[in-house]
Amino acid sequence: MANVVIIGTQWGDEGKGKIVDLLTQYADNIVRFQGGNNAGHTLVVDGKQFIFHLIPSGILYENKKCFIGNGVVLDPGVLIDEMEELRESGLPVTPERLMLSANAHLIMPYHRVQDGCSEAALKKGKKIGTTGRGIGPCYGDKVLRCGIKLGDLLDDGLFRDKLKENIDEKNYLFTKKFGADPVSFDEIYAGAQKHLEILAPYIGNVSVELDKARKSGQHILFEGAQGTQLDIDHGTYPFVTSSNTVAGNACIGSGFGPAHIDAVIGILKAYTTRVGEGPFPSELFDATGDELQKKGGEFGATTGRKRRCGWLDTVVANDAVRLNGVTGFAITKLDVLSGQKTLKIGTSYEEGGERLTAMPGNIRRAERVKPVYEEMPGWSEEIRHAKCVDDLPAKARAYVKRIEELTETPAMILSVGPGREETMLLKNPFEK
Ligand code: IMP
Repeated sequence: MANVVIIGTQWGDEGKGKIVDLLTQYADNIVRFQGGNNAGHTLVVDGKQFIFHLIPSGILYENKKCFIGNGVVLDPGVLIDEMEELRESGLPVTPERLMLSANAHLIMPYHRVQDGCSEAALKKGKKIGTTGRGIGPCYGDKVLRCGIKLGDLLDDGLFRDKLKENIDEKNYLFTKKFGADPVSFDEIYAGAQKHLEILAPYIGNVSVELDKARKSGQHILFEGAQGTQLDIDHGTYPFVTSSNTVAGNACIGSGFGPAHIDAVIGILKAYTTRVGEGPFPSELFDATGDELQKKGGEFGATTGRKRRCGWLDTVVANDAVRLNGVTGFAITKLDVLSGQKTLKIGTSYEEGGERLTAMPGNIRRAERVKPVYEEMPGWSEEIRHAKCVDDLPAKARAYVKRIEELTETPAMILSVGPGREETMLLKNPFEK
């Protein structure tokens, strides 16, 4: 029995989906524990592309059970569309294979409106560049203790009362503050009833189920979304998402005890990307940045926005090792670096005459830091065919080794292309 958490070590989009898919083979249960449909995990299986926003990609395996934990914010319409798409691809989703926590908070239509209005009202330079999916407003209501939980839908009186109170508040905000149209109780109520009809059989107590699974010796994989620098507490606040993206939240967001976690795999892209606004010290504004963007196909899986690209930054990687307790890295997209004559790795920052080895908490400082780089020779060969470390050019092996040295963390998985088969599993975290 082993329980493994997978998290992103940078600003999201590190290629978690593919690594989750790889490790899912060894797990019996796969759990989403935070975020919502701001996430987008792209997977290529037998040449067919799947993009998952909410349902764990483990659903592609017929004998696995998937869970959406209490820490997730759930847009029921999006979930139902995703279930429908999977059904159309010949992968029916049933309550035996997917359980939704009754305690997960619902993203309501007014949360999306609020996300749009709030973002539009921010001045240039202050905008977060959210995905517009209502994530922040939904988590905001949760913390303000007025949110609506999935399980509330099962109690019509409770749901009606909460919806009415929320809509009165939101409509005041929309009409008086933002000059926007009010939302309609009747429409939202009717929509929720339709969602309930489909989702009711899937609602359950995820914490209890995971406990049973653990006690019966099953393996559990916790699938994080976004990345460590987007964490609401530890990231580049306020340019972050509204949940804790670090590994500790795997426990809080699913109702699982921390003593039962055996390994934390940090997904580390071989270079760095960021989508949306906010500090990005090793960002490239030149032809190399454009090359990485093009060669890496760096477009957001949820919004289609071009991702900003830059060199690998081990200040960021070391923050992730510390904050998540990373036991091993999965280094992804190594193949995208093929053809770069020289590779740079940011190893510390300079700001105000000081040398820094962690991202500063002060956002203005984080915007000012300048990375200190070391350089390594790149490799010219394409490496997508590589099946084991020895198939890699010596310079690619040296690059991986240098990352391990700078972070004092072993590489357990190397990924050299988008396909399932373009992956090297050097150490399986499910094997103790
Ligand atoms: P929100 O999560 O939609 O509120 O967006 C807040 C910030 O997090 C924005 O900069 C988004 O671009 C970023 N973000 C949210 N989800 C993801 C993701 O899955 N990958 C990368 N960035 C994300």
